[in-house]
Amino acid sequence: MNHSLHDNPYGVGLAYRFNVHHEAVQHRSEIDLLEISTEDYIIRERRTYSDPDERLLKDALGKFPCVAHGLSLSIGTVGTLNQTYLDSTNRFMAENGLNVFSEHLAFHSVDGNDLTMFLAIPFEEVAVQWVKQNYYAIRRKLGRPFALENVTYSFPAPHSSLSEADFLRRICEETDCTLLLDVTNVFNNAKNHNYDPVEFFDRIPMDRVSQLHLAGGFQRSDGRWEDSHSEPVMDEVWPLFDEAVKRAVNLRNVILERDSKLKPFDSVMADIRKAREIFYTHRSTLVPAVEAIAFDGLGAEAPDPLAPEFAGLRSYQRTLMGRIADPAFRAAFLANAPEAVKRFDLTDPEWFQKIIDCDGALVHEFEEAWDYFQKEDREVAEEYEKREWAAWANQLGGW
Ligand SMILES: [Fe+2]
Ligand SMILES: [Fe+2]
Repeated sequence: MNHSLHDNPYGVGLAYRFNVHHEAVQHRSEIDLLEISTEDYIIRERRTYSDPDERLLKDALGKFPCVAHGLSLSIGTVGTLNQTYLDSTNRFMAENGLNVFSEHLAFHSVDGNDLTMFLAIPFEEVAVQWVKQNYYAIRRKLGRPFALENVTYSFPAPHSSLSEADFLRRICEETDCTLLLDVTNVFNNAKNHNYDPVEFFDRIPMDRVSQLHLAGGFQRSDGRWEDSHSEPVMDEVWPLFDEAVKRAVNLRNVILERDSKLKPFDSVMADIRKAREIFYTHRSTLVPAVEAIAFDGLGAEAPDPLAPEFAGLRSYQRTLMGRIADPAFRAAFLANAPEAVKRFDLTDPEWFQKIIDCDGALVHEFEEAWDYFQKEDREVAEEYEKREWAAWANQLGGW
């Protein structure tokens, strides 16, 4: 087997953004690894705007151990798997020698509409079973186990029978996934949904945490906390991070996420230095060997989204997405909800009650964001077409 620089990324690093490539390289001795967002390279529009010939990416891959982080999986959606996404992810990882992969424990894509904002998977046993079966099908496709990240969510599905922590614990019991624990997300969710973050650590299997995320955010004027990825890590998050590093005995690495306000880069480095200090207080500076995980193939087929046991969960997800993304359905739902939900076969009274009791103001925020992103997407697509045509005309002119 060929050994790659990316077999065992260890330490504290940064979510790679091509616009701070040179700054990252300059600080190579203090940045142990990079996390590559696979979306930046496998989604057409994003590719147009980022390092189009991947020259910077290749340079980064040659200089730093790297892990990969995906965004479009939507593992919690009761629907068919996005094969194109899995194939492109596989190709990208193979081409670049990447071995460590993570995704989000959420659902955001339903019936071909991708919200690009996370919704909480209902914390129910049936959802644990769906994620379990889907996880194994994806794991087989990717040829490796992968880490699942806890996400922030604006509202949970009402009347959940499990807590968020117990839901995570159940996923770990049912699968061989590791956890990418986003400490800022734990902090924000704890604040927004009123639970104790340290008790949350008590309830989840911290020995399954392989990676940590840290990001900055802020408190909005309405009191809610947001992980904007645009600010330094909040003061209140650091003690929680310290606690997480202490408890996560199998932790391999920590990634600081900053998507904007990356310059001056000193402010990014200040967070990295602080994270390193904490990491190496509790963890060895010697890179521990990585245990080879036997892959038995498992023969896992993708679960059937039309199986009767998933009918209620599926209808709930489709109805919620209808409320957010389909203006005609929004109006029909407001006018006569019991009648409107027939469109998505929402006949189970418990799931019907959940959809009725979703926080209307928060669902409305998603509607507004959806309308805005739709408009923005159209503009990006038009810009892309324009560029393609210009490049083509240029080429013709050269003949
Ligand atoms: Fe993430
Ligand atoms: Fe994260």
